[in-house]
Amino acid sequence: MYTDLKGKVVAITGASSGLGKAMAIRFGQEQAKVVVNYYSNEKDAQTVKEEIQKAGGEAVIIQGDVTKEEDVKNIVQTAVKEFGTLDVMINNAGMENPVQSHEMPLKDWNKVINTNLTGAFLGSREAIKYYVENDIQGNVINMSSVHEMIPWPLFVHYAASKGGIKLMTETLALEYAPKRIRVNNIGPGAINTPINAEKFADPVQRKDVESMIPMGYIGEPEEIAAVAVWLASKESSYVTGITLFADGGMTKYPSFQAGRG
Ligand code: NAI
Repeated sequence: MYTDLKGKVVAITGASSGLGKAMAIRFGQEQAKVVVNYYSNEKDAQTVKEEIQKAGGEAVIIQGDVTKEEDVKNIVQTAVKEFGTLDVMINNAGMENPVQSHEMPLKDWNKVINTNLTGAFLGSREAIKYYVENDIQGNVINMSSVHEMIPWPLFVHYAASKGGIKLMTETLALEYAPKRIRVNNIGPGAINTPINAEKFADPVQRKDVESMIPMGYIGEPEEIAAVAVWLASKESSYVTGITLFADGGMTKYPSFQAGRG
């Protein structure tokens, strides 16, 4: 538990499922006030809200598409209207779809870039604008991926979006460090969420993914939520501009593990 998170106002995009949901519930356990943004599944968002309340936190749900500027502004405004301020903005919403690069339609490229990269930019911009205008030493956490450093065939749009998030976060961290506004990334490896449900339901594909993880298992969303609360708390007060990989060692060249090479 991080006592300084009690009563803090945290907005999380894409929070009706997967990592967003796990983070929202964990912040609820920390007795924070959580703005749960969802894209289309209101019922699931409502369930997340109830779980946060059951855990001792407060919550409000808000529909919004992170690719739309007005919707993202509305997420920040909802935090201020409902809970009086914003302390932590978590830009988590994201998507992927596999397509061979030479056949990738422009609409697929644009959709992934707009959601993963532009959505995170809009969320960062709106939160930082609020922090600057109100003299708040706020916090921004962006959901990157191991694919901000590992190339990923069939997912060129996704890898480009997460590579973009890396330098976006580093740039924002540098620009706003004098105001003590911190901006960091989380870089998950393979985690058990709906984005991977189909792949992990197939035992062959699951085993293949596990073989790329030195620690030997697919991570759980709660293991990412644990990173998020640390980055949001004052325990990480001197940390800005990093990607904290939580990946069971996936970024550490696992093919060399047995002394090969
Ligand atoms: P998920 O599919 O459960 O969550 C993604 C969420 O984003 C969904 O709730 C979806 O409705 C929402 N979303 C999609 N487009 C949106 C839009 N335009 N506006 C608002 N919300 C939108 O999958 P997961 O795993 O929880 O993904 C969360 C983030 O974590 C994504 O950014 C993903 O790239 C990242 N990530 C996930 C990894 C994994 O293994 N699960 C690994 C590395 C990164």
